[in-house]
This record gives sequence, C-alpha cells and structure tokens, in this order.
Amino acid sequence: MMVQSCPEASPAKWHLAHTTWFFESFVLREFLVGYKVFNPDFAWLFNSYYLSFAAFPEKRLRSSFSRPPLDEILCYRRNVDEAIEQLIERCPDPEALKRIELGANHEEQHQELLLTDILHAFFTNPLRPAYLPASPRDRQAGPSLAVPPQWVEFEGGLVAVGNMGGGFSFDNEMPRHRVWLEPYALANRLVTNGEYAAFIADGGYQRPELWLSAGWDTVRRESWRAPLYWSNADGAWTLFTLCGEQSLDAMASAPVSQVSYYEADAYARWAGQRLATEFEWEAAAPEQARNHLVEGNLLDSGNLLPVPATDLLQSEGPAQRQKSRLMQAWGDCWEWTASAYLGYPGFRPLPGSLGEYNGKFMSGQMVLRGGSCVTPAAHIRASYRNFFAPETRWQYSGIRLAQAKPEKS
Ligand SMILES: [Fe+2]
Repeated sequence: MMVQSCPEASPAKWHLAHTTWFFESFVLREFLVGYKVFNPDFAWLFNSYYLSFAAFPEKRLRSSFSRPPLDEILCYRRNVDEAIEQLIERCPDPEALKRIELGANHEEQHQELLLTDILHAFFTNPLRPAYLPASPRDRQAGPSLAVPPQWVEFEGGLVAVGNMGGGFSFDNEMPRHRVWLEPYALANRLVTNGEYAAFIADGGYQRPELWLSAGWDTVRRESWRAPLYWSNADGAWTLFTLCGEQSLDAMASAPVSQVSYYEADAYARWAGQRLATEFEWEAAAPEQARNHLVEGNLLDSGNLLPVPATDLLQSEGPAQRQKSRLMQAWGDCWEWTASAYLGYPGFRPLPGSLGEYNGKFMSGQMVLRGGSCVTPAAHIRASYRNFFAPETRWQYSGIRLAQAKPEKS
C-alpha cells in the first residue's frame, strides 16, 4: 500500500489517510465541539494541495511514507468515522452537513483514483499481476462485435448548461447558463480498440500533421507508440487491464482507453472528425441522467474495464433503444472534450480553503465528461466536469467523435 508508480498516482495508504484528513480538517475541526485532532502532524502530512490550510510534502514523496504504518492510518479512519457519526447525531448546522456531503463526494473521487493507481502500479510491476482473475463479463461470454458507428444528430440552438440545483454538485458546475450550439452530430458509441489499432497501423504516431504541436512534442519526448497500457510482442498487441493482460483481439470491440487529449485529438483528425465540446456533450446527455438516473458500465457493474457497446444494446428493450441512442455516455471511459477547463460566467469558488478544490486548476487542463468503468454510479451526472492536463493518460479516458451536422440535401 506504499507503491506510487508514477507522479500522478498516490499510494493506497495515502488515499485512505487523505480522505480521512479531509473530514477531520474541513468538518470535525470546525464543527464538532471538543474534537481533539488525532495527530497534529497529519494536518500537513496528508494535505494534498490546499495551500491556505497547511504546508504539505511534495507529491512525488508519498511513496516514502513508511511511517505512519497502516495500522495507525486505519485507527485514524475509525476515529474520524466515529466522530462524524457523533456530529451527525447532534444535528449539526446545515454548513456541516454540506461539508460532510462534499467529503463523501471527495472520497468517491478517491475510490476511482485508488483503482486507476492500482492499475498503473500493477502495470509497472514486472509480474503484471491481475487485480481481478477475470471480468465477470469475460467469464460469461467471448468477445462481442462492435455496434456499427452511426451519427446521432442534434439541432443545437440556445441551450442551458450547468447544474440545475436540487442535489449535490461541485462549485465548477455552476452557475447554470446559456450557450449557443450550431447543429452537430455525435458518434453513437466510443471509438474502439480495433479502430484505434487502425490509426496506429496507418502510422498515426509517426505523422506530425495529425497532431497538435504540443501533442507532437509529447509523442517524441515520451516515445509514445500506442495507448498507455498497450504492449507489443512479436507484432501482436496486448492490453493490460485490472483483469490482467488481454489480447487486442479479445478487446477489439471495447472502447479504447488510457489515451491523452493529444491522442484523442489526433485520432479525430485522422478520422476526418473532431471531438465534441463539453456543452455539445451535456446538451446531448440522455434526459434521465439529469435526474441522477445514470446507467452504464460504471464501478457498480463490477466489470472494472470498458466493455463493448453491443452488450448494453442487447440488454435494452426497443423503447429504450429508441430513446437513448447515445451509447456509453455513462461509464466505460471518460470522454475527452475539445473544451478548456474554465469557470462558467459568474463562477464563484467555495469560500475559504475549499475554494482551492476546483477553481485553482482552471488553466492548462481539458474537460472530460461521462464517468468511467471505475466511477461510482452515484457520483456522475450530466453537469459533472472532470479535468486533466492534455498529456494525462493514466485515467480511463477515451474518445467519442463529433462533427458539424451534415447538410440535408
Ligand atoms: Fe483529494
């Protein structure tokens, strides 16, 4: 639980301690009268990036936390859990309840990170261990064929985006506001591994004309030849997953994953298309999701890897098939959008140190939408904005193609 295999990732023990730290720092210290901090050093040791709260160690040093030992971290968690229960029983003021809800959502984010970090740790381990023996889906059926790609058209026009209120949302989803969209079309499903293999075979990683300048610099600097977890032995590709090493053939119909924004953009250019903006995506998100009824291959499905769109289609009746023509909008892979991560008009970060949660990252990052196969289902919604730097690729991030709506003849 001390392994930290890349600078983006954190050790499992750190995730456990840091999510506990969040509740202690932003809930218990302020709202539980008489609360005694578990260990004064933890206030800075497990701070991630809240500069106005306390100092913190360099992120790349998290793997050196041989002390405190795991037992102490688990004891810290139990202590904080009990104190939170006490606070809830005392009917705290509404701000404390809001903070507890924020802490729970923060922990859901770290549940996802825990799995993406374990995947990276196991990939870099020479033994390449599998987290699960095999996906439940794999045990039931062999590889399925991909649904044929189709365009789903949208009229655009003046649309409202952003969170409607009435449930939990992060500050970066607000305020709701209007944007103008030209008519557009989105692909009915995500780009598959098989399709991405064709891009590689066509020299995709050797053709500078397909890449943004910064993307091409990254390809050369990092010697990228394929998505993060692809390996090539004797001409055959294999893909490393939480269910161990899989052949490209077995995964050909599943969505391509662990690609950067640069790769998503280059693939779209190669295919003669583009990526959607975050607002095109949100306006197209199936209606039911606005009421938090999100269905898809999310963490709760237990697959822990992206699965082909056919599987979902087969499980739907004709009526549903008609209604939700956009497949894989929820789960499987976060979808890179062509939108820079910026504050909405009138954006206000949360007051105090918690204002550092989202707002200070609004530079040099791109927005991703829709959640992945390791996102808790209760965590994702139509207005949810994930964000990463364009070279990031250790998350389950994939590609949905978009285009201007074809002219009707
Ligand atoms: Fe965090």
